[in-house]
Amino acid sequence: MKIEILKTKEEIGKRAAKEFIDVIQKNPEAILGLATGSSPIELYKNLVQAYSNEEISFKNVKTFNLDEYVNIDKNHPQSYFTFMNQNLFSEIDINMNNVNIPAGVGNLEEICKDYNKKLEENVRDIQILGIGTNGHIAFNEPGTKFTQITHITQLAEQTINDNTRFFDKKEDVPTQAISMGLSNIMDSKKIVLIATGKNKASAIKQMIEGKQTEELPASILQNHKDVLILIDEEAASKLKN
Ligand code: F6R
Repeated sequence: MKIEILKTKEEIGKRAAKEFIDVIQKNPEAILGLATGSSPIELYKNLVQAYSNEEISFKNVKTFNLDEYVNIDKNHPQSYFTFMNQNLFSEIDINMNNVNIPAGVGNLEEICKDYNKKLEENVRDIQILGIGTNGHIAFNEPGTKFTQITHITQLAEQTINDNTRFFDKKEDVPTQAISMGLSNIMDSKKIVLIATGKNKASAIKQMIEGKQTEELPASILQNHKDVLILIDEEAASKLKN
């Protein structure tokens, strides 16, 4: 694991974008693994900027998102599809046929199977990740098998509490999601993980310095050969070195 501690969210976003821009410049048909939530927002701003400056084009890029809430239609204001459209897709020249986000409504077992097949056929060149305060990556909650593939997952109480900030009230937060499994995430050729703020410090410490355990899903990344961890000083505050 390569770890970089940077001062601000903006610097982190710029640094993460550099990795993505490099990948797209080397391969205009790159396959990107994308995430939602607060962590990647600055990355997406920088990618939109790079597109506006004509440094990169997304015309032939394919994307695969980590997850989607169950029982939330893609047009719902809090769906991850809406999030991606608002923060990235509507601002760039991507072909929407090349955008892949699992649907949260329909025959969920079939959706998982199909998404997993597509992931196997489309190995990601680079994957962006955030991390939950409980150490989850995508919605692989503590206790998820390291061998897990795309699945329907029950969100942990801590995750529901953390995500309440995006909804009017806790009761509105979905309790299930469709998520790439840990095994799918590990297939990506390169991984960039972003974390900022004190509430991530404990998960970051366990991910980097703790023993590898399914109780801290992000600890699986200790096994990946190309991981870049971008954190601010608060998220790094519990690290020994
Ligand atoms: C989002 C996802 C989640 C988030 C994590 C951190 O697609 O899969 O694992 O990355 O919950 O969320 P933020 O960035 O909002 O702190």
